[in-house]
Amino acid sequence: MTTTQPAPASPLAPAWLPAPGDPDALVPGLWAAGVGRAADGELTVQGLRASALAAEFGTPLLVVDEDDFRARARAFREGFDAAFADLCGGADVYYAGKSMLTLSTARWAAEEGLRVDTASGGELAIALAAGVYPAHIGLHGNNKSDAELRTALEAGVGRIIVDSLDELTHLAALAAEAGHRAPVMLRLTPGVHAHTHDFIATAHEDQKFGLSLAPASTDRDGNVAGRSPAAVAVDTALATESIDLLGVHCHIGSQIFEAEGFGLAAGRVLEFLAEVKAEHGVELAELDLGGGHGIAYTAVDEPRPAAEIADALADDVQKTVERLGLRCPRVSLEPGRAISGPAGLTLYTVGVTKTVDADAPDGGTAARRYVAVDGGMSDNPRPVLYDADYTAVSARRTSEAEPALSRVVGKHCESGDILVRDVYLPADLGRGDLLAVPATGAYTHVMSSNYNALARPAVVAVSGGLARVIIRRETQEDLFAREADPRLAR
Ligand code: LLP
Repeated sequence: MTTTQPAPASPLAPAWLPAPGDPDALVPGLWAAGVGRAADGELTVQGLRASALAAEFGTPLLVVDEDDFRARARAFREGFDAAFADLCGGADVYYAGKSMLTLSTARWAAEEGLRVDTASGGELAIALAAGVYPAHIGLHGNNKSDAELRTALEAGVGRIIVDSLDELTHLAALAAEAGHRAPVMLRLTPGVHAHTHDFIATAHEDQKFGLSLAPASTDRDGNVAGRSPAAVAVDTALATESIDLLGVHCHIGSQIFEAEGFGLAAGRVLEFLAEVKAEHGVELAELDLGGGHGIAYTAVDEPRPAAEIADALADDVQKTVERLGLRCPRVSLEPGRAISGPAGLTLYTVGVTKTVDADAPDGGTAARRYVAVDGGMSDNPRPVLYDADYTAVSARRTSEAEPALSRVVGKHCESGDILVRDVYLPADLGRGDLLAVPATGAYTHVMSSNYNALARPAVVAVSGGLARVIIRRETQEDLFAREADPRLAR
């Protein structure tokens, strides 16, 4: 479709979704840098045609533009390093592995000068196997097992982010027993929760993560009435030989577009560090501000460049440390989605299509086209879990057909199995066509399942115009791999 005249909007479309002039257009900001369209309209990744990728590797296929991933990783490292250079000698960027961790992605992050944040023993094993320098690995988790803590100590990870008073004393005992000093960051809950353009600030925390900055009302679970769990944790850590207290950490949410929320959280945590200095005469050396940097899933999302967030935050932090008379701690952060998300796209093959009459909010009915693809909630559970919006384009060809309000659904035995709730796609998109969904690099592969005994997709990395498999497609044989009933041995 080449017209730029928008088609009439469907009454079923949400307010944020305008009728497009051209449903085949690649909206800037949604796609990895290597994505374009060939002269005949086919979608390409670094010049590789969608149909060639689909033919060689099958669909559904998660295609990761490695060069784009690396460029985003570099942008964070360079942007934050420059912004914090004068203030605290630069910043350390930990790639949040949970967003998309494989041996390859861990290696890319490390090669680009990032460190790696892991959230379990499994993620830690992947980062170590990828050759990430142990001192550049952080281990998170609100309920780490003894095995996870022991492995982290033995491997010599750079920081264990301790989540509770219970864990602090437990880790101290494990470290003492093993003859280690545990390098500890305390995860604090500063009472700031940010999401997209909004953030809320509260005094009390009602969630499983972290040590509250608010004074406890009763003596319970190691808390001391009138003293915050965070302060008690510092008292304990500083008094414990087997704990090496490096600093503090906070993480305030996901899909954050403004620096404001990070600045507010940093302010609260720095105030706490000033109290620690007053009480203990100790200036803690490290401050981690977590991840949550937002990305564009649809045309309405407008994330800011990493360097812009970094500059605004550095300004805020500088004012706060000056006001409090603190030496600025070394700042670190943990972006995941903002590095891995936009680098990925998922290619699906279209199967069944149908058009239904749907009840429209205006009391009438309107046509909704269902476009069913060969994957679904098993390769991207985010729309079902979080009502996450995505968009999609026809990938094998462009079309002159009118845009039709469409819903991209998977092949699972569940009516909620939606991949893209609302998108205008060419009305003639049909069986055998390819569909590309952008921004699927984060929290897809790592959250995929075998629901309905579907084999999980392959992951292909594209770099320098060449594609290679980094995670092979599961086979049906894999689906039997854990069947263990000896009476049914295959
Ligand atoms: N650091 C900590 C301590 C975190 O808990 C998280 C995410 C991150 C860093 C990285 O956040 P990012 O920069 O990727 O937003 N499955 C959900 C997201 C869960 C995020 C949990 N923590 C989703 O698909 O939206």
